[in-house]
This record gives sequence, structure tokens and C-alpha cells, in this order.
Amino acid sequence: QSLKIGLIPADGIGKEVIPTAKAAIEALGSDIPKPEFIDLLAGFEHFAKNGIALPDETVNILKNECDCALFGSVSSPSRKVVGYSSPIVALRKQLDLYANIRPVTSVAANPGEKPNVDLVVVRENTECLYVKQENLIIGEHGKEARATRLITERASRRIGQMAFEIAQARPRKHLTVIHKSNVLSVTDGLFRETVRGVPSLPDVGGRFDGVTIAEQLVDSAVYRLFREPQIYDVMVAPNLYGDILSDAAAALVGSLGLVPSINAGDNFVMGEPVHGSAPDIAGQSIANPLASIRSAALMLRHLGYSKGADRLDKAVDEVIREGKVLTPDLGGKAKTGEVLDEVLRRI
Ligand code: NAI
Ligand code: MG
Repeated sequence: QSLKIGLIPADGIGKEVIPTAKAAIEALGSDIPKPEFIDLLAGFEHFAKNGIALPDETVNILKNECDCALFGSVSSPSRKVVGYSSPIVALRKQLDLYANIRPVTSVAANPGEKPNVDLVVVRENTECLYVKQENLIIGEHGKEARATRLITERASRRIGQMAFEIAQARPRKHLTVIHKSNVLSVTDGLFRETVRGVPSLPDVGGRFDGVTIAEQLVDSAVYRLFREPQIYDVMVAPNLYGDILSDAAAALVGSLGLVPSINAGDNFVMGEPVHGSAPDIAGQSIANPLASIRSAALMLRHLGYSKGADRLDKAVDEVIREGKVLTPDLGGKAKTGEVLDEVLRRI
């Protein structure tokens, strides 16, 4: 038996950090089924060369041959490029990876972090403003741009259910619903009501009785995240708020280069560091590989290989705690490969 893992490094530092996650998985030996890696293409650089950002072949191989996947990062330009659309947003939709789960944890050692942060951002991954239905018209007073924000009961219910499951499995069992329904009472109102209604769904029974639920408007949630991050356990949010909140939360632990995620659906899981392609440091071999290695751990844990996942997480935590071999984002001088070697030595 083998574990077939699709690898999609894509652009920028994705190409530098995905190989480190691969090496860390390979080091696990018999803790997991023998890994088989399949290299797959996607990204802006591929688009620039071939006119296509997400080849059909990549999607087909993921769907038909892979047990799971690891995605690096894409360089999506901030201006409109005709024919280009972000492959990660498309992949999440095409594989129905409806939940983006982003744990942010401090390890109580690195000087850039707030102590005792231990939270998970559960971000809805398929709708909200990321349906990308935008249009531009020339109105009476000049250009007018509009975007559609889609919130459905179905997507809100399944992300709500996922968030309750995650909260239920954690020691504090506390869930905060993030929204802005004081202003957007229809869209955010539907999200809020649907998530709050999850415990009383007929098929849920009393399963979530132990979970306490709170809610917070997204703007003050960011404020409280910086003031008193310890109050948060699991945060569930629509797509855009979840995207912003999780980058903000990454600042609490010292670097985006530490924060992992998985994109999860009912039938597939794809690990992905939260950071982007980091053009400011790409090509210098100084990208922090730890977010990617932690993403591999999250992916393996989701598939039930908790022993292998624990070994990866423990090795990463020890490297951070020891603080001797770290990349520049954490104040160190080490190269990506040197940090990887430290992790491998501990695995
Ligand atoms: P970014 O996450 O790429 O970088 C933000 C800052 O964090 C930069 O200073 C970068 O050097 C640093 N950083 C990020 N990851 C790091 C790592 N592993 N080690 C050390 N430092 C790290 O965000 P930015 O600059 O806003 O976006 C750059 C590009 O990435 C854009 O084209 C954007 O569209 C894309 N992007 C892609 C994502 C994805 O593939 N899922 C997510 C976010 C952005
Ligand atoms: Mg982001």
C-alpha cells in the first residue's frame, strides 16, 4: 500500500518550501504508507509560459490518482490579466475543498510571538466575494465596479459543522462566529444564523453540547486578536474575513512562515502554507520551510496518520524552541536547507 501525494509547488517560494515538506514526509519511514509523489503544474509562471494557470491534467490527476496533495503558493498579479485566474481559488472549488483550516500556535520561545496563542481559524473556502463575479460599467459619473458576495445556507452549514467538530475535539471547546451582520444583515446574517443553528440540526443530536459559542464582529475581532489572542479557541468566518484574520493571527506567532493550513473537503485534503509566493525573498533560499512542513503534518493528521504528524510537529516545535537554526523572518541567519536539516535530524 502506498500514499499518493500530488505536489504543486507553483510559484516563488512555493518551489523552495514544497521540496522540504516532501523530504520531511519521506523521513517518516514506516509511520505512514510508502509515499509516492506526483509532480504537478500550476501557477502564474506556468500561465506566463503556456497561457494556462491550472492545466486540466493537474486537476484530473489530483481527482483520480492522488490520496492528498501539497500546494505551495501562487503569484497572482494585482492587476487584471486577461485569461488568468488564481489556480488555488479554482482548485478549492473544483475539488470542493470547502474548509480552510488554519491553526496558529505559539511555542513559547520565539521572541516575536505572543505567549499562549492556540487558536484555529476555520475559513469558508468556496464562496463570499471569492466567487469573483465582478463587473465594471461606465455610469453617469464614471466607472462603477460591482462584485457579488455569495453566502449560501448549504456552505455556511457545512463550514459551521466542521467548526463545531473541530471545537468539540479541542480542550477548550469554544467557538467564535465572526461576521459583520450589523451592516450586512442579509449575507452575514445568513452565515451567522446558520452557523449558530448547527447544534440544533436534526442529525446532530447532542453531539456539540459541550461546545460554548460566542460571536464577534470582524473588525473588533481583529482588535481583540491583537490585544488578547488567548480568548480565542476556534474562529469560524466567511472566506474573505477568514483570509484576513488568519494572516493577522500569523503575526502573533512571529511569522507567516510558521503558519500551516489544510484545504479539506469530504473526499480530499490539500496541505498549503498560509503564506504567498513572497517575491521579496524568492530565489534567495531563505524562505522559512516550517509552515510547509507543518502543513504536511496537518494533512497527514487529517488522513488519520497521527503518529507521523506528531513526529513532524514535534521536530518543528523543537527547532523553534531551540532557536539556533532559524531563517531571517524569525531573526536567524539560516538558509531554508539548514532549517530542513535540523528538522530531519530530529525526525
Ligand atoms: P506573502 O505571504 O507572499 O508575503 C508577505 C510577507 O511575509 C513578505 O514579506 C514575505 O517575505 C514574508 N513571508 C511569507 N512567507 C514566508 C516564509 N515562508 N518565510 C519567510 N518569510 C515569508 O504575501 P504578499 O507579499 O502579499 O503576496 C505575494 C504574492 O503571493 C501575491 O502575488 C499574492 O497573490 C500571492 N499569494 C498567494 C497565496 C496562495 O498561494 N495561497 C496566498 C497569499 C498571497
Ligand atoms: Mg491569504
